[in-house]
Amino acid sequence: MAGEIFFEFALPDDPFLDQFSCGYETADNYFRSRKWFKADKGRSSPPTYVFRVGEDCPVVGYCAFDFGKQPHPDDASEAKARYLVIYMIGVDQAFRGTQNPLAPGETYAASIMAVLEDIARAKQSCVGLSLWVRSTNEVAMAFYRKVGFAEDPGGPSQRDEGDPILTMRKILT
Ligand SMILES: CC(C)(COP(=O)(O)OP(=O)(O)OC[C@H]1O[C@@H](n2cnc3c(N)ncnc32)[C@H](O)[C@@H]1OP(=O)(O)O)[C@@H](O)C(=O)NCCC(=O)NCCS
Repeated sequence: MAGEIFFEFALPDDPFLDQFSCGYETADNYFRSRKWFKADKGRSSPPTYVFRVGEDCPVVGYCAFDFGKQPHPDDASEAKARYLVIYMIGVDQAFRGTQNPLAPGETYAASIMAVLEDIARAKQSCVGLSLWVRSTNEVAMAFYRKVGFAEDPGGPSQRDEGDPILTMRKILT
């Protein structure tokens, strides 16, 4: 299994959601709010997954992602390319910085990212993975760099009243 970690669609009746704590309030609130689950459609949007140590085992974390077309930073043209866009990711504090015994040399967070990379590789014409991160979120940035993401050359931009936001991407080779 890619990344040696179990994953499935997250559901709003997941009892763990209320105790989920990754230590970053925005992400905790995002997942706990269940706003990602569209009751009228009976599914999450963006698609939101729960990652577990194994089937019916403790929750490691959650991730919301979808495919989207974005301008490609290395391309001088205005043409857009398809990316797997990570909207939100959080690993529960019980598993942060923790090695995944089933994937030697990999933290659970890195195993989640390996799963996402496999999904991106399987998608036709997908060129990479992309996300936004607040430029003050040092741990997340360190993690993304470690697993192969790089900052967009444009640098951080002020998109809202919060800290500046940086686009980071991992191009699939
Ligand atoms: C981002 C996240 C998923 C990564 O999971 P993780 O288990 O912490 O990831 P890892 O332990 O594999 O990597 C974290 C890296 O940050 C480094 N780090 C830890 N504390 C740090 C700090 N204070 N400053 C800088 N780097 C730090 C770690 O040393 C590690 O790098 P290393 O393995 O090269 O030493 C997790 O931290 C998380 O859920 N954070 C809260 C939610 C969040 O910020 N989501 C991102 C929103 S864009």
